[in-house]
Amino acid sequence: MNNQDLLNIAREHGSPVYVYDAEVIVAQYQRLVSAFDKAKNLRIHYAVKALSNISILKLFKQLGAGLDTVSLQEVELGLAAGVDPKKIIFTPNGVSLEEIEKVAEKGVQINIDNLSILEQFGSKHPNTPVCVRINPHVMAGGNANISVGHIDSKFGISIHQIPHILRIVENTGMNVNGVHMHTGSDILDIGVFLYATEILFETAAKFKDLEFIDFGSGFKVPYKEGDVSTDIEDLGAQLSERFNKFCKEYGRDITMAFEPGKFLVSESGQFLAQVNVVKQTTSTVFAGIDSGFNHLIRPMLYGSYHGIRNISNPDGKNRFYSIVGYICETDTFANNRQIAEITEGDILSFSNAGAYCYSMASNYNSRYRPAEVLWYNGKSHVIRERETMADILKGQVQVNFEESVTE
Ligand SMILES: Cc1ncc(COP(=O)(O)O)c(C=O)c1O
Repeated sequence: MNNQDLLNIAREHGSPVYVYDAEVIVAQYQRLVSAFDKAKNLRIHYAVKALSNISILKLFKQLGAGLDTVSLQEVELGLAAGVDPKKIIFTPNGVSLEEIEKVAEKGVQINIDNLSILEQFGSKHPNTPVCVRINPHVMAGGNANISVGHIDSKFGISIHQIPHILRIVENTGMNVNGVHMHTGSDILDIGVFLYATEILFETAAKFKDLEFIDFGSGFKVPYKEGDVSTDIEDLGAQLSERFNKFCKEYGRDITMAFEPGKFLVSESGQFLAQVNVVKQTTSTVFAGIDSGFNHLIRPMLYGSYHGIRNISNPDGKNRFYSIVGYICETDTFANNRQIAEITEGDILSFSNAGAYCYSMASNYNSRYRPAEVLWYNGKSHVIRERETMADILKGQVQVNFEESVTE
């Protein structure tokens, strides 16, 4: 997918628009599978929350992946995409017992991350096997919001509470068939990840009926040139060998599972937006686009970096710009960024727009969410239409104040 393809998509489908390159998704999936090819049984559960369009889920189904889900609705989307419920894992946090029961009824693998629900679920459904999410108390992850395996985090059951888990298992007669951890997104140091896996192996050895160990995710992808990314090949070689050793000691071959989102889809996505206004102030040149944090919130939410290219003038002279959105409060995508000279009407392309971009988009300011396009086999396919006023009004109930005034 080159600049001209992107410009054609913006011309044909309007802006702003999300574009995903299927080839990149397939290549990342295959890269992950081959990094861990020494492990006897491998299962990749794609983390639906990263990008949940049903056509993307179907692409993952086609590749043989399962799904990692966090809500009943994500489970239902996965089932609507035709994914086998046995290949779906449900890893919620803080949801009701009722929601977990509804998911379990569908034959999906349940992953429980607190003792209260574990005890209640085990007492009511001792014959439904569950996985337990362990908090290994390891500080990993790119920033505080996405570091979820440390001692102050709300996620998982503390490793210090393993005896309590074992008591619940014994008293309810339930079956723990998996152990899981997810320490956080954007792990920079595989040494930290491997350290956390040792804690998980130690925990796993305490459960006698395991079918799998789920190591979560957090694999970092590059956002700019020279950026650190997770060395997946090195991690794959080291962890596969360690996993096979664990299986030998455990006395049985079990499955090694992962649940990546960002690694699989981040780099496939480009977000295209048109420049409405170029505004020179005393200190800055702003380029204001036809979008805002309602469509791409990561820079405002986490300070995330997205590469920005002017695809209408790729060979133009580089100048410094602040790229801002149209939302009625601070709405900055990038400050002091060198970009090829921008003229009003130019199309800017934001990279790494596959993960946590559309899936976090909203209707703030009553704006339509953009269209999504999949670039597949050299052609663009609309996989979600741009919203219309009907979508904004859908579900809103209008009170007729004039009629309700009593005569
Ligand atoms: C439990 C769990 N698994 C997997 C993921 C996917 O992480 P990433 O997109 O960094 O691969 C997340 C992300 O929030 C998560 O919370």
